[in-house]
Amino acid sequence: MIASRPPWDNSRMPQFDKLNDDVDCDVLVIGGGITGLSTAYLLKQTGQRVCLLERDRLAHGDTGCTTAHLAFVTDIRLPSLQRTFGSDRARLAWQGGEAAINTIEQIVDQEEIDCCFHRIPGFLQASLELNRDETQELQEECNLAQELGFAASFQATSPFSGQPAIRYANQAKFDPLRYLAALAKAIPGDGSAIYEESAATDFSADPLEAKANGHRINCHHLVIASHVPLMGQIGFFNATLLQSKLAAYSTYAIGTKVPAARYDEASYWDTSNPYYYLRIDHHADYDYAIFGGKDHRTGAASDNRERFDALAEILHKFIPEARVDRQWSGQVIETNDGLPYIGQTAERQFVATGFGGNGMTFGTLAAMLACDWVLGAKNLWQDLLSVDRKPVTHAVDYVQENLSYPYHIVADRFQRSEARSTREVKRGEGKLLRRDGQVIACSRDETGKLSQVSAVCTHMGCLVHWNNAEHTWDCPCHGSRFQPSGDVLAGPAEEPLAQIKNQREAAVK
Ligand code: FES
Repeated sequence: MIASRPPWDNSRMPQFDKLNDDVDCDVLVIGGGITGLSTAYLLKQTGQRVCLLERDRLAHGDTGCTTAHLAFVTDIRLPSLQRTFGSDRARLAWQGGEAAINTIEQIVDQEEIDCCFHRIPGFLQASLELNRDETQELQEECNLAQELGFAASFQATSPFSGQPAIRYANQAKFDPLRYLAALAKAIPGDGSAIYEESAATDFSADPLEAKANGHRINCHHLVIASHVPLMGQIGFFNATLLQSKLAAYSTYAIGTKVPAARYDEASYWDTSNPYYYLRIDHHADYDYAIFGGKDHRTGAASDNRERFDALAEILHKFIPEARVDRQWSGQVIETNDGLPYIGQTAERQFVATGFGGNGMTFGTLAAMLACDWVLGAKNLWQDLLSVDRKPVTHAVDYVQENLSYPYHIVADRFQRSEARSTREVKRGEGKLLRRDGQVIACSRDETGKLSQVSAVCTHMGCLVHWNNAEHTWDCPCHGSRFQPSGDVLAGPAEEPLAQIKNQREAAVK
């Protein structure tokens, strides 16, 4: 039996009631992942009254699916970062990751959190799938890292793959849910509170307010930490402009026991595009490997499950005895220039998004920035990561990155039925059906229960696609994800897929 969740024990997360009354607070934080919880925790330490709203359960979304590498080495390779931003800003970006890891370490010490936080090295190794000599390229990259002041060393052979690699000292790893459970427990009290199953809606600017479960939350500052940002009070146009600089990718991970002490306890990632990543944890009588990659634009894969098989095939080349006992997927948000967008988007409104594969470190850095923003303090990274920073010369053209939107909006008009009747939708399957001029997202769970909702994404109208690994409806345009019931799992969509009035099981043309 293969588990469909990462190894982190989510039973440790404390649970909180729904919002059931009006609330006044200093700061309203939206999102109960690492960014929201860290922001609320840091602000509470400064005496602010914080209200944190989570649509579902804390750390239930992409934070719960992380592989929890703590690395200051960014997804965007250092030479590219330097070409795009210059040496000083490239150094500053990595120093931001260092500061975030140091902050996590301080909180772990201060709160005495038993979350297996360890400093480990990270290895950038030559591609696991390309058979070419990358020695010179990696040596030059290592030299650049050293020039910028980072503890990097070139190794002719990576401890995992035997390929050339750069060893970066002072990365780290932890159990993210044990860490976040401790933060969540420290937030309530003295005017601060957490509410779960409380989706924020109906934002207004003056007074600054939102609603959840029909109740009003009045605040002085609003921090949107919802992975893909909600619109908040910036309006559809500006929200869409920000969205057009972001691209959602699905990523896949598998877990397996490996023989004890065969590999160094470390993080590994390679130069493939998209890259493969590996975390090795040592246990008393075995080691555990988490191996991931095979990313694609969310909603754009025809068969999600085959990504797990492809990962297992590559891992078996290095660990023939690996027996996969876990597999899961998550979503990462990439930006046009490789660095996240963190900062003010409207008066008294702050947003953090676009962390790529560095969700734990950039999420923590975002919390540090949000805290300084609320307190009116200057922060070293505020200009570098600002939401309205100027486009930079070597950035990916974000118009091109989002070309899929006009393509899909046209192609969707010619979408054919994937089944003639709901009877053709088997257990565990989802198919699009045309009926009475509507396209219906029809799925059947393992018990045989049928769900039928509109297939039209409530963000900007593309048709959703079935994800056969996660059993969700994913939108290929900007990455929104929905449950079979139509409820939103991940934005930018904020409204559920529309319910279908006529739920008959009839044959269709
Ligand atoms: Fe934008 Fe679906 S149309 S996420």
